[in-house]
Amino acid sequence: MTSFVTSSAVLFAFLACYFMAASGAGNLYQDVEITWGDGRGKILNNGQFLTLSLDKASGSGFQSKNQYLYGKIDMQLKLVPGNSAGTVTTFYMKSPGSTWDEIDFEFLGNLSGDPYILHTNVFCQGNGNREQQFYLWFDPTADFHTYSILWNPQRIIFSVDDTPIREFKNLESKGIPFPKSQPMRVYSSLWNADDWATRGGLVKTDWSKAPFTASYTNYNANACIFNNGASSCSSSTSSGSNAWFSEELDTTRQARLKWVQKNYMIYNYCTDIKRFPQGLPPECKMS
Ligand SMILES: *[C@@H]1O[C@H](CO)[C@@H](O)[C@H](O)[C@H]1NC(C)=O
Repeated sequence: MTSFVTSSAVLFAFLACYFMAASGAGNLYQDVEITWGDGRGKILNNGQFLTLSLDKASGSGFQSKNQYLYGKIDMQLKLVPGNSAGTVTTFYMKSPGSTWDEIDFEFLGNLSGDPYILHTNVFCQGNGNREQQFYLWFDPTADFHTYSILWNPQRIIFSVDDTPIREFKNLESKGIPFPKSQPMRVYSSLWNADDWATRGGLVKTDWSKAPFTASYTNYNANACIFNNGASSCSSSTSSGSNAWFSEELDTTRQARLKWVQKNYMIYNYCTDIKRFPQGLPPECKMS
């Protein structure tokens, strides 16, 4: 009996340490650092909230302290309210270097009452050109909503409040590149892009409304931390406790994805024949 209790306690302590290392549902001071903006980015309430702001002189941004090689990253964002035209708020993962991988959420602002565009993209080895854009089914400035990137060896899934909006499958066996070996950091920024963001650049930022502010909370990285050339995920973790590592869309979530694509998708590179007169990118014919 004693030895059972002791070994359970040891096992529990071990698991507790493991999960604390792997998933930081917690404190923004621990998880991220503000990297630019000269005081325009702020961590508040003992690490519970973060705000980024933008004025005529500068935007601001932060990045995760850790690098990850696969993970499920969730964050809640409340976007710039009111007249946000010309502003872009980003939330993305990216590896360094000239042949980088990248998984992007970008929120393109709009005039008061006009809809934001949620722009997504996937880069493999420095090549993007895989844009899909969506309207949202709620006002993203009224409340916090959860935006998630699931990146595992089989697929990338973009989700909004747990509703999948996009899936990019690993089709490497058919010659399509997939991000799988370059560790990425999580980044976020708020900046001025009024040369293209709103109605293709027609609507400019109204600086009389500055500073513009976006808010963040509940960063959660359920992820394989990459440090000194090694991943925190062993092969046993991959098969066991971390469901996200082999997560796929069940039929219910596939139906949700179809619902979003049918009702809210406003641009899909895979149907843009004018842009690819030589033929659509090969993955477009395979999913
Ligand atoms: C802004 O509103 C206009 C008019 O409703 C719409 O056409 C456009 O897609 C919206 N979003 C952006 C980012 O331009």
